[in-house]
Amino acid sequence: MKKNTVVIGAQWGDEGKGKIVDLLARQADAVARFQGGANAGHTVKANGREFVLHLLPSGIVHPKKLCFIGNGVVLDPQSLMEEIAQVRSQGIKVEGRLKISPLCNLTMSYHKMLDKARESKATRAIGTTGRGIGPSYIDKVGRLGIRVGDLLQFDVFAQKLKESLKEKNFLLKNYYKVSPASHDAIIREYRKYPALLKPYMADVSLMLNQLIASGKKVLFEGAQGTFLDIDFGTYPFVTSSSTISGGACTGLGIGPSGIGSVLLVAKAYTTRVGNGPFPAEFDPQMADFIRRKAGDEFGRTTGRPRRCGWLDAVMVKRAVQLNGADQLAVTKLDVLDGIKQIKIAVSYGIKGGGYPWTTEELAGCRVRYITLPGWDQPTGGIRSYAKLPANAKKYLQTIEKLTGVKVSIVSVGPDREATIFRG
Ligand code: GDP
Ligand code: IMO
Ligand code: MG
Repeated sequence: MKKNTVVIGAQWGDEGKGKIVDLLARQADAVARFQGGANAGHTVKANGREFVLHLLPSGIVHPKKLCFIGNGVVLDPQSLMEEIAQVRSQGIKVEGRLKISPLCNLTMSYHKMLDKARESKATRAIGTTGRGIGPSYIDKVGRLGIRVGDLLQFDVFAQKLKESLKEKNFLLKNYYKVSPASHDAIIREYRKYPALLKPYMADVSLMLNQLIASGKKVLFEGAQGTFLDIDFGTYPFVTSSSTISGGACTGLGIGPSGIGSVLLVAKAYTTRVGNGPFPAEFDPQMADFIRRKAGDEFGRTTGRPRRCGWLDAVMVKRAVQLNGADQLAVTKLDVLDGIKQIKIAVSYGIKGGGYPWTTEELAGCRVRYITLPGWDQPTGGIRSYAKLPANAKKYLQTIEKLTGVKVSIVSVGPDREATIFRG
């Protein structure tokens, strides 16, 4: 990693960002999360151990790297504390290395209650993770949020909580017909957080700008994926943050000049958890076959089976543009081993070749595929690009041609070693 790099998912999340960030973190000084919250589930397999990270940046697995949680993240203190306890029990020291922005909005218990209540009442549920993400960002933008820094003056926190609960409990009781949140129970729970969180609080923007100015290398870790972006994703079946590379600037307080490279991570096929259009989705038998073959196509946060489909080059090309990507990592190539014929979606049949303007148009599009011959040789043990089966190389070259970006990393298994770096 020669430049400060932002790592972004090209599809609907779970592309293997955690693995790629962990690999690149070896060459970085710091890793920073800039959006999302505990809805993320990033898997890192290292030295025979598996870590599933929700709020902590994947760099936490490397003992000496600084890890930042920027203002763009919505922070659930309960989830964070559980996660810190979990990684501690796996031998990781967090103290002194984790820096959290006091500007992060808090995800409160009532955000999770509202998320679940709204999903169960909706005629068109989004299929959220139930982690309170949407309601947290609604409060942030609606200027009703409570921020991490508010915990430093507990009376300010208590006042904001009281104000916010008036509206939340009205909704919970009268509209959703569920039990309201208890002001006293929240106060009791939150009394412990000022002391627990203060040691981690820092001016994340200032620290990152100083690191960048002094030539240190920073890795920016995206969560979710390009098509879950609040603006450019399959709205309304999206998450509530800017998941694209631009989000790194507003979610951390750095300028675009601080980012040197954008690495887009695309799975060799496509998956999606939750509802919403999926043009290149498999039929149920093929989805079941791939899910079984991959062995792990179940959401890392909710355990739900992931929907599966062919690689969609229309999406990945669009993601290249939206993120300004200059590198591509293709993950899970090994899962395609042994499949006789592999398809790639190359067109949505839109007049003029453009991208659909509405989600309804996307849902109704006519997908055109190309078919490539597969390969029989297992790729999981291969460590050099030259040794990949000829048809696997052809598959990767086709992706490069269709997206206009070079594949610089090929991942052929969940472990660190199962990776091919090119150039
Ligand atoms: P993230 O959210 O983008 O970090 O991805 P997840 O961790 O949710 O899901 C990716 C899954 O694929 C994890 O279980 C990884 O261990 C696994 N994985 C990552 N890269 C590869 C690969 O190249 N091959 C295989 N078979 N599994 C991989
Ligand atoms: P990582 O970082 C896959 C999906 C949910 C739902 C939609 C909205 O591991 O790639 P939310 O709880 O955010 O309001 O849910 O977004 N979703 C993810 N899907 N990977 C994720 O994160 C996701 N985070 C949210 O399934 O469809
Ligand atoms: Mg994930």
